[in-house]
Amino acid sequence: EAYRSHPVHVQHKHPDLNSLQELPESYTWTHHGHDDHTNSPASNESVPVIDLNDPNASKLIHHACTTWGAYQVLNHGIPMSLLQDIQWVGETLFSLPSHQKHKAARSPDGVDGYGLARISSFFPKLMWSEGFTIVGSPLEHFRQLWPQDYDKYCDFVMQYDEAMKKLVGKLMLLMLDSLGITKEDLKWAGSKGQFEKTCAALQLNSYPTCPDPDRAMGLAAHTDSTLLTILYQNNISGLQVHRKGVGWVTVPPLSGGLVINVGDLLHILSNGLYPSVLHRVLVNRIQRRLSVAYLCGPPPNVEICPHAKLVGPNKPPLYKAVTWNEYLGTKAKHFNKALSTVRLCA
Ligand code: SIN
Ligand code: FE2
Repeated sequence: EAYRSHPVHVQHKHPDLNSLQELPESYTWTHHGHDDHTNSPASNESVPVIDLNDPNASKLIHHACTTWGAYQVLNHGIPMSLLQDIQWVGETLFSLPSHQKHKAARSPDGVDGYGLARISSFFPKLMWSEGFTIVGSPLEHFRQLWPQDYDKYCDFVMQYDEAMKKLVGKLMLLMLDSLGITKEDLKWAGSKGQFEKTCAALQLNSYPTCPDPDRAMGLAAHTDSTLLTILYQNNISGLQVHRKGVGWVTVPPLSGGLVINVGDLLHILSNGLYPSVLHRVLVNRIQRRLSVAYLCGPPPNVEICPHAKLVGPNKPPLYKAVTWNEYLGTKAKHFNKALSTVRLCA
């Protein structure tokens, strides 16, 4: 009951989930197994799957982003072997003994390292997951985790980062094009016009098998504070997106597919045309689920605001201009109300 009086910024302890035979009270969310998370029986439709080589990709993306705020991509140019390598890094990392993982623990005011989901402090209940965040080089933390052979793990992370950067360039061009914006319209697209200056964080997530999945929550509902997020999920389902008028819809894992989420900053840039997608993760009792999220935002000090091409006499700008850092500060204070906090009165 103590946490009821402190609904935000709770300091949670972090027990070893793999050792728990029963769901502790602190992990028990309301029973969501029956009502809101099942697809409505009338439709088993989920987020669109888009082949990036499709000449109509931009149109399909426009439709996906206005209706779902998310889509899956195929033919994205990331080799399957690289997806397997990064997944293997995650698997090896999360399989380490608990005390070993804690050697790379995220510091209380830090952003990178091992720990609970970063959104944990906004919820009174604990989530059935563990995470590892990498910003810049993973070297220091990886040395703690694997004193003997950290370099091969670092290598895979660097390769993944490089490949993701290229994909971000492709996706940004397509998504802007789908909004009628060219790279020349955005100064920060960089000299090569491939968004080579965007910033990113790599987030590895593990959702251990759970003794009572219907009452547990892997990752609570949130939107990403990014321009866009590129998510690789292994072949175990759990990710759900929320669609207005429909409810929670599962995003089925697709071999070699990547899920693209519209984040809050693209929501702002698009003047609300592409709403950031609310999503969450459920857990299961049979297999551990792993996911790798590449969180992509603008370069430091670049202000994101509704683009001039999407603003007009009948379409006033809906949001203030914010840098990524400013927005993260707003999010840390207001969480899922952050977007309305930077909204301009219209
Ligand atoms: C996330 O929203 O950061 C992770 C989603 C997932 O694990 O599928
Ligand atoms: Fe997310």
